[in-house]
Amino acid sequence: MADHPNLIIVRHPLLSDRLAHIRAKDTQPAEFRRLLNQVATLMIYEACRHFETREQQVETPMEFTTVSVLSHEIVVVPILRAGLGMIDGILSIIPETKIGIMGLYRDEITLKPIDYYRNLPANMANMDVLLVDPMLATGGSASAAAATLKKCGARRITMMSIIASPEGTEVMRRDHPDIIIYTASLDRELNEKGYILPGLGDAGDRFFGT
Ligand code: PRP
Ligand code: URA
Repeated sequence: MADHPNLIIVRHPLLSDRLAHIRAKDTQPAEFRRLLNQVATLMIYEACRHFETREQQVETPMEFTTVSVLSHEIVVVPILRAGLGMIDGILSIIPETKIGIMGLYRDEITLKPIDYYRNLPANMANMDVLLVDPMLATGGSASAAAATLKKCGARRITMMSIIASPEGTEVMRRDHPDIIIYTASLDRELNEKGYILPGLGDAGDRFFGT
């Protein structure tokens, strides 16, 4: 795999412990949902680390002081379905964020993404856009979603995934070298059906219990 300067693997004992449980095949949907949101909560701090801030004045009960606030509004864009599973965790930290939706699924044979729904805020040019999907496998869905976001005006996009493959991160490096990707794990490889190994299986099916 080529060097990927924009791939950041978030490492933390709590995160690796939660990830261990989420991978386990016996973890049932109710627990899987709870864990997915916990992982998103733990990761969101890191995923916003490079966001720009600006100084402003605030009056405390004691005096005026200079504080640092986010420069840009944030919009979180989950990729349906599984990306929805990270939203509550993210909102627990940044409840004021806007939410856009991208509906994509992989064709089971070609593994190419099929675009079926889109609802994005206007004026994304001046926002920090956080594209979220637990799985970055072939990279087809993330790359297509990022291309759509750019066409709709987004200029600063960050991706947050939970498990990424070498193949998917390489596709993102090639197609969107400007996008920083935060992930909790860079797994070994894809199998012949495009599933990540060791991975966690089908994130959407496990989250929705289908
Ligand atoms: C999963 C996952 C990603 C996509 C990743 O969605 O949530 O969106 O696969 O695979 P890729 O990197 O090879 O594109 P899926 O297509 O299974 O749809 P679902 O979430 O609705 O089940
Ligand atoms: N989508 C998933 O949900 N899991 C994988 O391993 C690959 C794509």
